[in-house]
Amino acid sequence: MTCLVVYYSRTGNNRTIAESIASKLSADIDEIVDKKNRKGRLNWLRAGKDSRSGKLTEIDYQKNPQDYDTIIIGAPIWAFNPIPPLRTYLQEVDLKGKRVAFFICSQTEAYKDMFTQLAEMTPDSELVANFGIQEKRFKNEDYSADLEAFIEKVKQ
Ligand SMILES: Cc1cc2nc3c(=O)[nH]c(=O)nc-3n(C[C@H](O)[C@H](O)[C@H](O)COP(=O)(O)O)c2cc1C
Repeated sequence: MTCLVVYYSRTGNNRTIAESIASKLSADIDEIVDKKNRKGRLNWLRAGKDSRSGKLTEIDYQKNPQDYDTIIIGAPIWAFNPIPPLRTYLQEVDLKGKRVAFFICSQTEAYKDMFTQLAEMTPDSELVANFGIQEKRFKNEDYSADLEAFIEKVKQ
């Protein structure tokens, strides 16, 4: 099984999880880069607005998911919606027939609803696992058993 871990991360949380998953699966890893500047207070507000209105953006990434069997995709949530760089990625790449898994680190438990939306955005893929975690747990607690359970599902 060939695995690709793809992630977007503005402040590093989802990057840390992506790196951990990629290391445990010996998978390739790729970062989705949003060409729109998302740093700073004003851009924070714009990011929320863009996300809420379902906007797309311009992104960069290096690896072609077509070259892999399983694509594990992670990102935060902005304004209770899939973030523009993730929305754009899912529109640009062809995941038809691929095994997919999603992970989300967000401030609240909003990831629970987000997984439903992400599954709807990838109707031609086989969803194999989801892993969601609240930021405070990510920062303060040991979540390795839950991450391991996610990885086991991906491996099956
Ligand atoms: C513009 C903006 C809007 C956000 N809106 C939400 C939200 O609606 N729900 C939530 O749980 N977290 C929200 N967050 C928090 C992020 O999802 C959270 O901080 C996440 O861990 C950041 O991941 P990262 O470090 O990989 O960028 C928002 C963050 C930003 C920047």
